[in-house]
Amino acid sequence: MSEIGLFEAIYSARALRRFKPDPVPDEIISRILDAAIRAPSASNYQNWVFIVVKDPQRRRRVAQIYRQVGDAIRPVIANLFRNAPADQPEIERRRRKLNDSVLYLFEHMDVPPVLLVAGLKPVPPYWEGADVPEPIQAGMKAMARFESSSIYPAVQNIILACRAFGLGTVLTTLHAVLEEEFKAVLEIPREVETWALLPIGYPLDQFGPVKRRPIAEVAYLDRWGNPWRG
Ligand SMILES: Cc1cc2nc3c(=O)[nH]c(=O)nc-3n(C[C@H](O)[C@H](O)[C@H](O)COP(=O)(O)O)c2cc1C
Repeated sequence: MSEIGLFEAIYSARALRRFKPDPVPDEIISRILDAAIRAPSASNYQNWVFIVVKDPQRRRRVAQIYRQVGDAIRPVIANLFRNAPADQPEIERRRRKLNDSVLYLFEHMDVPPVLLVAGLKPVPPYWEGADVPEPIQAGMKAMARFESSSIYPAVQNIILACRAFGLGTVLTTLHAVLEEEFKAVLEIPREVETWALLPIGYPLDQFGPVKRRPIAEVAYLDRWGNPWRG
């Protein structure tokens, strides 16, 4: 297994949604999971859980649910970027590409040999009963919104590790539209929340380059609105 550099992985790990059905060795999946669990998590709880779905029948049932969601929300996807200015062909190109690729996956989630589900087990609400002044108590309670953030550093490690092994993947979340049905297929307990469904397999398309809005549009120096020009 030859490995690529970190920055090459970052710049080329674009969302890949079309896969060959060829199997991925368990040894590689283990390495990917091992990369996932190196990620940070709030209070180092490591309350994540990963389900490697290889069984063809369960993959088919997951794919059915994903397709069902796709059929229902197709008009929503088609409307992405609808407020973009009409004179920007690049935005139209991106919209069409995303649209086509997302729609393709709605129909083909059962093709990749591995579906990896990333979820979080609940953690105790640490602010409850804390002996701190009221505004701090309220602020700590509001921080509950960060709890679910604990999964995505691990998911990004999965994406980069897949790239390192020449595997395609994409972070998807639309299964959550029918999360109860989805969880039932994999016998996931009620209290566990699922945050990502990653199809993993050898890609039909090329890696990268990952294209993004320029830094000056999204990063500021010292204060809001002052573009970083570094
Ligand atoms: C939180 C989150 C949810 C996403 N959900 C989905 C999804 O449900 N289905 C899908 O096909 N892609 C999904 N994506 C993938 C994005 O569409 C993709 O990362 C983005 O378009 C950039 O693609 P690129 O790296 O190829 O440029 C999701 C990405 C993120 C970060």
